[in-house]
Amino acid sequence: MPNPTDDAKCKVAADWTRDLTIQGWRKWQPEMHAGSEETSRLIINLGGIDSGMRVLDLASGSGDPALSIAHVVGGEGHVIATDMSEGMLRIAQDCAEKEGLGNLSFRVADMEQLPFEDASFDRVTCRFGIMFVPDHVRAMREMLRVLKPGGKVVLVCWAHWDQPFHAGNIAIIKRGLGPAPPPGTQALTPFRFQEAGTLGTAMRQAGLENVQEQECRVPWDFPGSAKRFWEMWYDIAAPYRSIIDGLEPKEREEFVREVLEVWTPRENGPFLHLGVRIVVGVGEKA
Ligand SMILES: C[S@@+](CC[C@H](N)C(=O)[O-])C[C@H]1O[C@@H](n2cnc3c(N)ncnc32)[C@H](O)[C@@H]1O
Repeated sequence: MPNPTDDAKCKVAADWTRDLTIQGWRKWQPEMHAGSEETSRLIINLGGIDSGMRVLDLASGSGDPALSIAHVVGGEGHVIATDMSEGMLRIAQDCAEKEGLGNLSFRVADMEQLPFEDASFDRVTCRFGIMFVPDHVRAMREMLRVLKPGGKVVLVCWAHWDQPFHAGNIAIIKRGLGPAPPPGTQALTPFRFQEAGTLGTAMRQAGLENVQEQECRVPWDFPGSAKRFWEMWYDIAAPYRSIIDGLEPKEREEFVREVLEVWTPRENGPFLHLGVRIVVGVGEKA
C-alpha cells in the first residue's frame, strides 16, 4: 500500500527540485538575501552564534542563513550548508564563491537522516525548512544527535498565514483555490507550525531542553516595487505556482490586482516595506 508520508515527501522533493523553482530562486537570490537579512540576524543573535563555531544549516536552499552565519563564524569557524535539493544548493555555492567564503561547505542531505557524526556541531539552524519534513520530530532528534553537549538548535517557521507578506497565499486561500492550513495540521505547508506552541512542543518531544518558542516581527525590506515583488513571489512560490498557472487569464488578472492592493501601499522610495511574523524555536542539548 502506498505510504502517504512518502507521497507527501515526493511532492515536496518535486516542488523544490524542479527547474522552474531553481531558476526562480537563482534569479531572485540577491533580493531574497537582502530582504531576509534581519531574519538571519535574529537566528544568529538568539542562537548566540559566534566566531570560531562549527554550524550546520539545514534546508539552506539558496544559502540563507548559511551565508550570513559564515561571515560571523569567520576563518576559525565553519558552516556546512545542506539541502535535499542539489539545484537549490548550487545557487548557494555560487554565491559563496562570489563572496570568497572559504569557510562554507555544501552537502546534499535529508534532514530526517543526517550524514554527520554525533556531537559534531556547536549550532544547528534551519530557516523555513522544518515545515516540509513529514517526520519533523525525527528530524529534530537528528539535530540533537549531531549537536555537541551545550549546543543549540534554532528553527524558524512562518507564523499565521494571514499576514501581508503572504498576500498571494491569502488570495489563494480566500478564493478557495487552496485550503487554509487547519490548526495542528500535519500538512507539509509553509504554515505547519503557525499555531502558537506547536513548534516548541515538537522540539521538547524530540528531547531538546530549555526550549523557548516565540513569535517575532521582523522587517523585510524588498529592494523594489510591489509589482516586482509579485514577480518574485510567483517565481519562488514552489508549492503554489501551479495553482496560479491554472487560472484563466481574466481570473489571474483579478488575482494579481488583489495581491497588489495589499502590497502597493507599503512602497516607500526604492523599497517595499513588508515586515513578517515568524515563529522562532530555540532549544539546547544538555
Ligand atoms: C522555503 S526554502 C528555504 C530556504 C532557505 N533556508 C531560506 O530561508 O531562504 C525550503 C527548503 O527546504 C528544503 N527541504 C524540504 N524538505 C527537506 C528535507 N527533508 N531535507 C532537507 N531539505 C529539505 C527544500 O529543498 C528547500 O530548499
